[in-house]
Amino acid sequence: MRIGILTGGGDCPGLNAVIRAVVKSLLRQCGAEVIGIQDGFGGLMGEAPRVRPLDWASVSGILMQGGTILGTSNRANPLRSEAEAARALAHARALGLQALVVIGGDGSMAIAHGLSQRGLPIVGVPKTIDNDIPGCERSFGFDTAVATVTEAIERLQTTAQSHGRVMIVETMGRYAGWIALEAGLAGAADVILLPEIDFDIEAVAAVCRERERRQRYTIVCIGEGAKPIGGTLTVQQRIADSPDPIRLGGVAHALAAALQPRLASEVRATVLGHVQRGGSPTPFDRVLATQFGNEAAQLVMRGAFDRMVTLQDGRLGSIALAEVVHGSRRVPLDHPLLRAARQIGVSLGEAGRV
Ligand code: F6P
Repeated sequence: MRIGILTGGGDCPGLNAVIRAVVKSLLRQCGAEVIGIQDGFGGLMGEAPRVRPLDWASVSGILMQGGTILGTSNRANPLRSEAEAARALAHARALGLQALVVIGGDGSMAIAHGLSQRGLPIVGVPKTIDNDIPGCERSFGFDTAVATVTEAIERLQTTAQSHGRVMIVETMGRYAGWIALEAGLAGAADVILLPEIDFDIEAVAAVCRERERRQRYTIVCIGEGAKPIGGTLTVQQRIADSPDPIRLGGVAHALAAALQPRLASEVRATVLGHVQRGGSPTPFDRVLATQFGNEAAQLVMRGAFDRMVTLQDGRLGSIALAEVVHGSRRVPLDHPLLRAARQIGVSLGEAGRV
């Protein structure tokens, strides 16, 4: 049996832990030959496939390494045209792949489903620091990103305190506020602004003014997809309108510009950016990624294809890829962390709740 494995989309701490577990599990349990496809789906799309063998030695020592030893690509999409899909399938056939494990986000899962429908047996493994893949309550990489952002907020706390400033820190997360919410709470932010709850700029300013009087400084943690009631901030709009919509980032600067004239203290913005995707996975993510990789190998051995590994109610399982390809799993408005935040006096930027 010959099994391929690739990592697609943006990288994320824990990818190597998944690769390692898939390889070890398949080698040990069925003696399969495993090959790594390089640079995501890009490795199946050129004139010739780009691959490397994966054996015990090649996955030794990679558990704690960030990034992906296979490389990845955000843009390679064999479903762009039927000709490109046919070429990717022909490469997979020529390589003698009986199955392919795709570790990726929603975009990669959509491609995996499309290729599965065209006859390539695929098992998906959800990957994102954003924690927003439908059907999966916890994705590896999220815990590491939260730890990184929490540390950054802690550092901003001391400099904000010294200068009596308003510090705005922007997190990744796209249209979901999981990173901002958990890291905001863990880092003791005073205001947490999420894409799920449009914020009232006057309410945010009122919190900062109140704190100017009492504590002198304020920490605002904002998810990159957050926006004010009734639209976007000027800089944010310019970014959203740009022809290359790769980054939602910039909302922190837009918010700083909007807040500054309303406040006596100085406002500063920090955009954490890709530092949130880098570095070694936390122990939690190493363990979760190992479980996901092993589960993917079990699905391959059982012949359960066109499916993605999931974690639901704390249990590993799988769901049809068709169920995953649309939408993002956002923070529900009745989530207990939102209630806890409000109850301890963290502002979510809502009008009338200052
Ligand atoms: O989906 C993961 C993520 O890190 C988002 O949080 C972020 O908006 C996006 O990827 C950034 O992607 P890129 O690698 O294209 O800058």
